[in-house]
Amino acid sequence: MSMNRRQALTRIIGISTAAAGATLVGTSAFAATDENGQYQLEMGEKLKYVPLDAMATAKLAYETSGGCMRQVFHSVITMLAQSASVDADKFKTIPTALTAYGGGGIASQGTICGNLNGIGMLVNILDDINDQNSAIIANAFRYYEKTPLPYADDAFLTGIATTAEKSVAAGKTSISNSVLCHSSISNWSRASNLPFAKKGERCLRLSASMTYYIVDLLNRAYKGEDISALVATKPSGETQACQSCHGASGTIDEQAASVKTDMECTTCHTGHFN
Ligand code: HEC
Ligand code: HEC
Repeated sequence: MSMNRRQALTRIIGISTAAAGATLVGTSAFAATDENGQYQLEMGEKLKYVPLDAMATAKLAYETSGGCMRQVFHSVITMLAQSASVDADKFKTIPTALTAYGGGGIASQGTICGNLNGIGMLVNILDDINDQNSAIIANAFRYYEKTPLPYADDAFLTGIATTAEKSVAAGKTSISNSVLCHSSISNWSRASNLPFAKKGERCLRLSASMTYYIVDLLNRAYKGEDISALVATKPSGETQACQSCHGASGTIDEQAASVKTDMECTTCHTGHFN
């Protein structure tokens, strides 16, 4: 096969680029670069988590702008970018501004709470910590559903360096009973006698609280705690009973619809055996 000089040159460049790529890839088979040679997170690529200071990360989340999803995502990514992780420089390249859409349950639609959306986005790109990434997400979702939030204890409020004056603006802690922004805010509104429009301080604190929780949970998983074995990671007994008939791969009889969700069923359904 004959080749002119130009074709030959292209071949050589092609080969050397591939070789350079191979050495660059190193630890990850998926790492990629854009046309300027800049690192870019690739589909399926996972970055190395290292334990972080949960309170320092929560404080950063409290001070972060751009809505609840960005507070969680930006604060943890920023801490990892400054950490001893071998992937610190890769964390630095992740554009956290993308997450601003998550506020108000996606552009004020009141659907999935941005804190949980941010946690999902974050955990998805971490190296699967002791194969527990799914359990970590499940645990955080169940925790969010049933815990009085935001945290209001002195240690936490001191940790994020807030003021008593702001505590008045934050209103009361409340339980969302759901992963939805809508129920979280409306239950807070009822408890605090404040409208959605006044949610600012409360939601800043909610994101700081969930950031604290997810960092602590990731640290625990990293140290080897079996998050998947915790009762708190599983749906309630009542929901598991619903799932036993309304399964994901099949149902108890053909009349029953198949269901794939770990949300608490009875928040929205009354059930049908009472
Ligand atoms: C013993 C099996 C079984 C369990 C447990 C069960 N379901 Fe069902 N479910 C069915 C069957 C069969 C149907 C369809 C026939 C019918 O409508 O009764 C159904 C229908 C439904 C429907 C459709 C509307 C309706 O009421 O008919 C909803 C919603 C539903 N189930 C929710 C739930 C929830 C929530 C739970 C848990 C609190 C639950 N189910 C537990 C078997 C079950
Ligand atoms: C956030 C609210 C919410 C939660 C939580 C929820 N569902 Fe639903 N579910 C809905 C809505 C809304 C529909 C659609 C109802 C309609 O079209 O009338 C639905 C539909 C269904 C249907 C089909 C309804 C029918 O008429 O056949 C079943 C069965 C069902 N859900 C079971 C469950 C089970 C089991 C769980 C828990 C594992 C659950 N759902 C959790 C809101 C929810």
